[in-house]
Formats: sequence, structure tokens, C-alpha cells
Amino acid sequence: MVNYKDLGLVNTRDMFARAVKGGYAIPAFNFNTMEQMQAIIMAAVETKSPVIMQVSKGARNYANATILRYMAEGAVAYAKELGCEHPEIVLHLDHGDSFELCKNCIDMGFSSVMYDGSSLPYEENIAITKQVVEYAHKYDVTVEAELGVLAGVEDEVVATESHYTKPEEVIDFTTKSGCDSLAISIGTSHGAYKFTPDQCTRDPKTGLLVPPPLAFDVLEEIEKKLPGFPIVLHGSSSVPQEEVATINQFGGKLPDAIGIPEDQLRQASKSAVCKINIDSDSRLAMTAAIRQHLAEHPDHFDPRQYLKPARDNMKKMYVHKIVNVLGSDGKLAQA
Ligand code: G3H
Ligand code: 13P
Ligand code: ZN
Repeated sequence: MVNYKDLGLVNTRDMFARAVKGGYAIPAFNFNTMEQMQAIIMAAVETKSPVIMQVSKGARNYANATILRYMAEGAVAYAKELGCEHPEIVLHLDHGDSFELCKNCIDMGFSSVMYDGSSLPYEENIAITKQVVEYAHKYDVTVEAELGVLAGVEDEVVATESHYTKPEEVIDFTTKSGCDSLAISIGTSHGAYKFTPDQCTRDPKTGLLVPPPLAFDVLEEIEKKLPGFPIVLHGSSSVPQEEVATINQFGGKLPDAIGIPEDQLRQASKSAVCKINIDSDSRLAMTAAIRQHLAEHPDHFDPRQYLKPARDNMKKMYVHKIVNVLGSDGKLAQA
């Protein structure tokens, strides 16, 4: 059993309370590789932001669970080496799909876990979330739960349609399950294709797709039912059109990729939404830089030559999100 506190990690409780009160959101960035981890930490240190580094089941399969845990431990040391005396870094399991997986992560040093029972019948979702909460709280690990269904792909679970969270269920769900934060569905979705072209309108000037707005009325209803309770938004990449254009220009093929407009995420950050999940934008930033570099330098074959611009581009994107979208810059408890 490894306790996250011994690794210099923190849970989400205090940072979420400050974020809800302060009207900003904490970035939750997924990572699978060393370059993503380095870019996340460089950005968090430079902006003096708390940060959640999250690991999906797919990331554990790709990179190995033990390696990712040691990378998170290394991230704390790296942040200190970069000059941040008191970093606030959470190691979080994203979309845990069983009690056993959540327990395994808690036992190996995660400071926060998500149990995602959103595809299960309501009572079953409550029962397993509660089981995870009871175990997690023994070690002061915080638990995120999910109610409502996002369209798109969550690890092996694929939903073709989203179902907004029902505001009338949230009090009962959070009270019975005991979760510390709640992921809701208000129109975001996973991946780089969040909406089909026929769900969007086209901007006559740019020809770009304009997605339908998020359901802020549902968010408001939920906030009224659960004043001050930490709300989480998954599927919140904005799918920057410059990165998509670069990928397509240098041999990629991402037709009609579209995300959540950043002004809507900025608006959500000012509400009880205190954690915003971003994965696809990192993938796009990395791939765009690698494609461009290799196209412009066909003689390069040392991975450091193309992974460095990839890392720089991801860091730039993370800084932008923190400063211009989520507003978590300068929000460390101790500078
Ligand atoms: O919610 C999904 C995250 O973007 C993780 O994606 O399961 O492909 O690692 P992944
Ligand atoms: P995106 O695919 O929009 O980046 O969402 C990531 C996410 O929700 C991870 O849990
Ligand atoms: Zn997600």
C-alpha cells in the first residue's frame, strides 16, 4: 500500500472548494507519455496553477500502471526542480469502470479516482460508487462519480446519444453515494468529433461548423439543487481548428473535427464547474507538431527532433487553457 501523501500528491477536496468559491476550474489533463507529463508540469509551474494529471484505463494498458504512478511521483519532484515550492498535483483515475480498478489505483498511490457507472442502472451506479467512496475515504482519497451519459467513446464504452443529467436526481445520487464531485452531461462529448455536421450550423463567413450550445439551463438547475457542490465537465476539448488544419495540411485526414467553443468553457468555469477534462486537444497539438516537423525535415529520424516541438506545442496549449479558459493561474494555496 502506497499513500499518495508520501508521494507529495494532494487530493481534490481543498482545490475544488477554492475553485467553486473563486469562480474558476482546475485543469484535468490526461497523460500517456513522458512528453505530455513534462508539458503539463511545465505549464502548471509557469502559471502557478493546481493541476490534475489523469490516467485512463487505456493509458494504463498503453504505458503500464506502475510506470505512470512513478511518473506522477516524478512530476512532483520535477515541479519542485522547476522552482515551484508547493505544487498541488493530483493523480486521478479517469473513468474507472470497477471497484477493483479504483481500489488498485488507491492502493498504488492515486489521490483521486473516478468511478464511472453512468452506463449502469441508477441504483447500481449508486451502490458501486458508494463502495468506492467507503474504501477511498479511509485513505482520504477523493471520488468523482458520473450521472448522465456523454456521447462519444469512453474507453470501451461507446454511446451514440447523450442523455443530459436529470437535475431531479442529483441530490439523491450525491447523498446516497457520498461522492466528492459529480460529472454531469450537458452536451459535451469525448473525442475530436463532438458533433456531426448536421447537428451544427455553418458560419457563412469562415465556412466553419458552429456547434449547438451547451445546456447551461441544466447546469443552473443542478447548481440550485447542490449549492457549492463540485461539478465536473468531461469531453471539454475545443479541438483548435489551427491544429486540425495543420494536421490536414501535412498529410492527416480529420474532416469536420469539432469541439466545444472556448467561450462556453470559460462561462462554465465561472460556475460550480471546478474540473474540466481535456485530452483530445493534447493529442491534436502533439500530432500537428510532429506531422509538420517530419514533413519539413524529411531527413530527421531522432525522436527528440520531433518530440521536442510536440512537447512545446502541448505546453503552449496547456498554458492557454489555464490562463485564458479555466482561470486557474495564480491559484496555488501557497505560492
Ligand atoms: O475519456 C476518455 C479520455 O479521453 C481517455 O481516452 O481511453 O483513449 O485513453 P483513452
Ligand atoms: P476530450 O476528448 O474532449 O479531450 O475529453 C477528455 C475527457 O473527458 C477525459 O475524461
Ligand atoms: Zn471523460
